[in-house]
Amino acid sequence: MHFSRSALLGAFATSASAFEAPMGTFSVNHFIQADALVIGRMDPIVSPGVASGHVHAVQGGNGFALSMTNQQANSSSTCTTAYLTGDKSNYWTPALYFQDPTTKKLEAVEFDYMNVYYFFDKVDADDKIIAFPPGLRILTGDPSLRSPPVTPELITDYSDGPVIQPVQWGCPRVDTSTPLYEADSDGLHGYGIGSKVMLAQGVGFSDKNCDGLYSPMLAEITMPSCWNSATDPSLVTADNPQGYKYLDTFTNKGTMVYPTKGVCPTGFSKVPRMFYEVYWQTTKFASRWTPGQKSQPFVLANGDPTGYSLHADFIAGWDTEVLQNIIDNCNTGDRATDTCPGVTSNPAGTKCNVTNAIPEDLGTTTPLDQLPGNNPIPTAWGIAPSGATAANDSSSAAPMATFSSAAASSSAPAPTSAPIGSSLAVGVVAATASSASASTITASSSSPSTTGSSVASGWSYSGCYQDGNTASTRVLTGITFANVGAVSNTNCVAYCAQAGYSMAGTEYGGQCFCGNSLSTSTKLADSSCATACEGDASQTCGGSWSLSVYSNAAPKVKRAEGHLRRHLQRVNSV
Ligand SMILES: *[C@@H]1O[C@H](CO)[C@@H](O)[C@H](O)[C@H]1NC(C)=O
Ligand SMILES: *[C@@H]1O[C@H](CO)[C@@H](O)[C@H](O)[C@H]1NC(C)=O
Ligand SMILES: *[C@@H]1O[C@H](CO)[C@@H](O)[C@H](O)[C@H]1NC(C)=O
Repeated sequence: MHFSRSALLGAFATSASAFEAPMGTFSVNHFIQADALVIGRMDPIVSPGVASGHVHAVQGGNGFALSMTNQQANSSSTCTTAYLTGDKSNYWTPALYFQDPTTKKLEAVEFDYMNVYYFFDKVDADDKIIAFPPGLRILTGDPSLRSPPVTPELITDYSDGPVIQPVQWGCPRVDTSTPLYEADSDGLHGYGIGSKVMLAQGVGFSDKNCDGLYSPMLAEITMPSCWNSATDPSLVTADNPQGYKYLDTFTNKGTMVYPTKGVCPTGFSKVPRMFYEVYWQTTKFASRWTPGQKSQPFVLANGDPTGYSLHADFIAGWDTEVLQNIIDNCNTGDRATDTCPGVTSNPAGTKCNVTNAIPEDLGTTTPLDQLPGNNPIPTAWGIAPSGATAANDSSSAAPMATFSSAAASSSAPAPTSAPIGSSLAVGVVAATASSASASTITASSSSPSTTGSSVASGWSYSGCYQDGNTASTRVLTGITFANVGAVSNTNCVAYCAQAGYSMAGTEYGGQCFCGNSLSTSTKLADSSCATACEGDASQTCGGSWSLSVYSNAAPKVKRAEGHLRRHLQRVNSV
């Protein structure tokens, strides 16, 4: 359910905006490994050739470097973390840190994973969407923003408001009976501004731990989708074969904008609208701070403890024919782009990375006294004087022209005061639908059997096992989040078998993992693995942090079973 839950958030996040394109579809661009391509102070758009002001987490092709030519991502990448071999683009956002409330020391929050939704919004059948040309640089968000934006709702179309509000934080929770943000938040000021429509979302960091069944805290960013595609024959070079005037929309402000009622300005072309979801493993810090104290411990790598300055960057490295084919011919809905016809996926187990060009201690193992880049952190959350923290951050020098960083203005429309938890609050449905439907399924009289499905010849059910909630504590680590489409035990086992693994596990109804052994894990009652599979409701695919584990009983597999037994002995003897 990883994918459909995300799709749900994505779909609802966009529908928080009033305008919705009447036609078109979307696909999800997934990344093949949980790890990022690189984490470091690299930003070839804002700080080419030098250390960026703050740490970013980057995904995509390994042509990524401190400075990049237009063709570099596409032509110089020999691998990519995207599932599609044709996508060597780079996608990045600021990294997240945890500041210990007592010691004030900083620890890197583990990058969990990232999805990028590609929306193909058409206002009518003739509406043309073009592939990103290699080298197109897109960015949004305002790294200098420390005061609340005018609205806690996303605004990504000018028909919904004069000021674009392209970023927010998601914080799904198990118990949504109390407000996600400070109770006294009026939607304009205060300590994290909760969306009045989407109760698991808001601008700024939340006042609660994000313990949702399906995810920890996640960054959500909508990129602009209208690009001034003007050309000039005198600009034609090998690095810009079409002679585009505005591949660099950071230097050329205003050449990349948001649409109005889905329509781009004259002279602009419509490109896919990207929606980034970046998940951070915030859950492991849950016991180290106390919510509801008007202070929260997370800080963006640029020193922002408010979360308002979330931003994102993109440099196109698509094989444009592959992307245009997806735009024109693929209608997979919330399924992945690699289920589109005519595309090539990376083989299972592909890994891709880049060396951090700015080697330094990123605080992944030992707490730091200062953020990398020495970005100062104001002491109070949400009330930092505007600009106080931005001075030392090179990327804050020039916020996007298309994005007004207006602070709360008195002319802002008053937020509607739907009581939290009321039926008006459709966001509750959005945020909890997955868990609600999972438990509904579990409780229904037609509950599927939780004692294993008949999956494949030679494979059998080994039981329900506890999974870890970080990339390093996952118990099946051969392939994590294998991309098998709508997950069932049958297709997960088939996938893992084909990839040469002897064990497969499904989780939360929609996740598939492969491996050859179960690292540290506890066996659970089968009732803990009772979530119906997304791809086959007659089977159960694990549960919350629990895996339905299958193993191959063929000779090679006996080793795995031995492993499992040895492991169980170890667990039982603890
Ligand atoms: C991208 O790179 C590939 C491989 O080097 C090349 O064949 C292709 O022409 C490049 N450009 C585009 C737009 O796909
Ligand atoms: C990057 O990939 C190389 C080659 O597979 C590997 O040796 C190296 O350990 C990886 N580095 C990181 C930081 O994952
Ligand atoms: C900016 O960072 C440098 C170190 O990179 C530090 O020495 C300096 O004091 C900082 N300046 C400000 C204005 O914070």
